[in-house]
Amino acid sequence: MKTIKVGMLGIGNVGSGTYKALEMNCAAIEKSAGVHLEITKILNRRPEAKRAVDVPREKYTPDPYDIINDPEIQIVTEVMGGIEPATTYMADALRAGKHVVTANKAALAVNGQMLQQLAMENHVMLRFEASVGGGIPIINAIADPLVSNQYDEVLGILNGTTNYILTSMTDNGADYAEVLKDAQAKGLAEADPTADVEGLDVANKLSILISLLFGKRVLPQDIPTQGITAVSSIDINYATEFGYKIKLLARAKKTDGRLTCSVEPTLLPLSHPMAAVSNEFNAVYIRGNAVDELMFYGKGAGPLPTGSAVLGDIIDIANCIVKGAAFDVQPLLQYDSTLEAAGEGSAQYYLRMSVPDQPGVLGSITSTFAKYGIGIQSVMQRAEGGSASEVPLIFIIYRTDRRVLNEALAEIRGKGYADNIDAVMRVQER
Ligand SMILES: NC(=O)c1ccc[n+]([C@@H]2O[C@H](COP(=O)([O-])OP(=O)(O)OC[C@H]3O[C@@H](n4cnc5c(N)ncnc54)[C@H](OP(=O)(O)O)[C@@H]3O)[C@@H](O)[C@H]2O)c1
Repeated sequence: MKTIKVGMLGIGNVGSGTYKALEMNCAAIEKSAGVHLEITKILNRRPEAKRAVDVPREKYTPDPYDIINDPEIQIVTEVMGGIEPATTYMADALRAGKHVVTANKAALAVNGQMLQQLAMENHVMLRFEASVGGGIPIINAIADPLVSNQYDEVLGILNGTTNYILTSMTDNGADYAEVLKDAQAKGLAEADPTADVEGLDVANKLSILISLLFGKRVLPQDIPTQGITAVSSIDINYATEFGYKIKLLARAKKTDGRLTCSVEPTLLPLSHPMAAVSNEFNAVYIRGNAVDELMFYGKGAGPLPTGSAVLGDIIDIANCIVKGAAFDVQPLLQYDSTLEAAGEGSAQYYLRMSVPDQPGVLGSITSTFAKYGIGIQSVMQRAEGGSASEVPLIFIIYRTDRRVLNEALAEIRGKGYADNIDAVMRVQER
């Protein structure tokens, strides 16, 4: 049986999970793929540190080029994270004629085009299943059998940490800060959770999905992005009363030659399949013109689920090597679409503001909305929850362009009675 040697850059969560997944499934892989896979060298800058898997010491090297330039290694797996030096190592591995498997959405969102070009020039594969949705096999699914579709919409719950926090806030009525602490204690949130809770991790993943599904390059920093730090249990409770769940939703939609996208806390109707995605689970929902609606669901993070996606890519490449198959069968990040980037676009919105408990205030606000052509679907005014002189006023408005809404809210603020517009959140239509 042919042996294919693999080098691995990094031995953290995903590296350990990949190593373990291979240990667990080695015999089955040999039986089904007819190839013996062996991780022969691992970049480890701290060989003394305790790792989640037992690796023979002689596999460790402190020098990435010991792996990149090893003539026996055919596949390099990058599981270090960060844009640099990971991008440089991947580029050098591709130049050295190695196939590259990565889980690194941050590097791909920014440098995917360059890396893919290098892969093509060097007749090798760049595979990145684990970069979006962890263990969920979404990338290869979109890129392969579903290539017969044209897509017009993608929705994603793509971050396990934030989904766990929002689920816990909804189910237990707890506040954000309290739930974040609990998530950190359970290992479901990083000590520095910024990239997760500010939506930056999700923006990287959405950028990759947009280039795969719509063929357009939208850098993560150009995606309107809002995290979950301002979501309060007050809004979660009102959303529940109106029949919604709040989720950190990544979305992109193609309409009439325009592409709108955003990452933001969104009210999802309970009847929407994405509303049922709870705790650390992730899901991706896409709509294609032939396949219609599709939803992928599973663990979006964690050493073994993510390691299994990395290993899946390694096995696919090994299969190609064994069969001598062409190496241009790979998910293609595309960037040549003529779609016009059109910001967040229009949507229904949930608004919560604190206003003086005085006659005429509600009328003045609704007149301002009318002036901007904004229709009101529901309104609720509650005495409880506000200070003695102020009451919360909650609206769900009909589909409105975000820019028009911002102008209307600025005018309402200018009137002096609603300085506190406490929440503005997108409402997903079913
Ligand atoms: N964690 C998940 O569930 C998950 C899911 C999907 C995708 N991903 C992606 O997978 C990648 C790895 O994530 P992770 O959670 O496994 O991270 P991690 O636990 O921090 O592991 C990173 C590993 O790379 C090593 N490393 C980092 N920078 C290095 C450098 N400059 N030189 C040498 N070694 C270096 C680290 O070494 P030390 O141990 O010495 O620090 C560690 O072994 C990231 O791109 C992440 O976005 C992760």
